[in-house]
Amino acid sequence: MKIAVLYYSQTGNTKRMAEEIICGMNKVEGVQAKAFSIDDADKAWIDESAGIVVGSPTYAGNLAGVVKVWLESAAGNYDLSGKLAGAFATENYVHGGADLGMLTILQHLIFAGMMAYSSGCAKGDPVIHLGPVALGGSLDDFRETFRIYGERFAAQTKKVFG
Ligand SMILES: Cc1cc2nc3c(=O)[nH]c(=O)nc-3n(C[C@H](O)[C@H](O)[C@H](O)COP(=O)(O)O)c2cc1C
Repeated sequence: MKIAVLYYSQTGNTKRMAEEIICGMNKVEGVQAKAFSIDDADKAWIDESAGIVVGSPTYAGNLAGVVKVWLESAAGNYDLSGKLAGAFATENYVHGGADLGMLTILQHLIFAGMMAYSSGCAKGDPVIHLGPVALGGSLDDFRETFRIYGERFAAQTKKVFG
């Protein structure tokens, strides 16, 4: 079962955290997860994926415009309907706007017919509200949460579509 993690990253933080998510996802037996920059997305892989997670840096308290542009055309360009959707973000400051960015990502993916999943409080610690968030100055502190999120998202994808 394939899963795609898509991200935009100008200075590497969001890319790095996408890789942590992939690491957690690939712990789940039968799951093959790959990360792609949205500039270089593998259409065949995305179309074959049962789950899709989109990540963005936080810009001016919301997602990066490049990601929004991608999301605006994604529903028409990719086979997204009925799949599991997730979001993640990086930011430099606590309450810097990552939540709004993730909400916007999830709104677009729901609009494309996807089903949103974050694991929320249902799996206990760490509680992951809309999706995992990492602070740019201390990415290492968030590695484990991103890996756990990846593992939970992949397990849920397998549960729903396996
Ligand atoms: C144009 C711009 C706007 C930003 N706005 C915010 C912001 O509103 N809140 C915040 O916490 N960080 C903000 N940041 C910091 C980035 O979100 C943060 O460094 C992020 O991890 C960068 O991701 P990247 O390394 O994947 O490009 C901004 C950065 C840039 C370049």
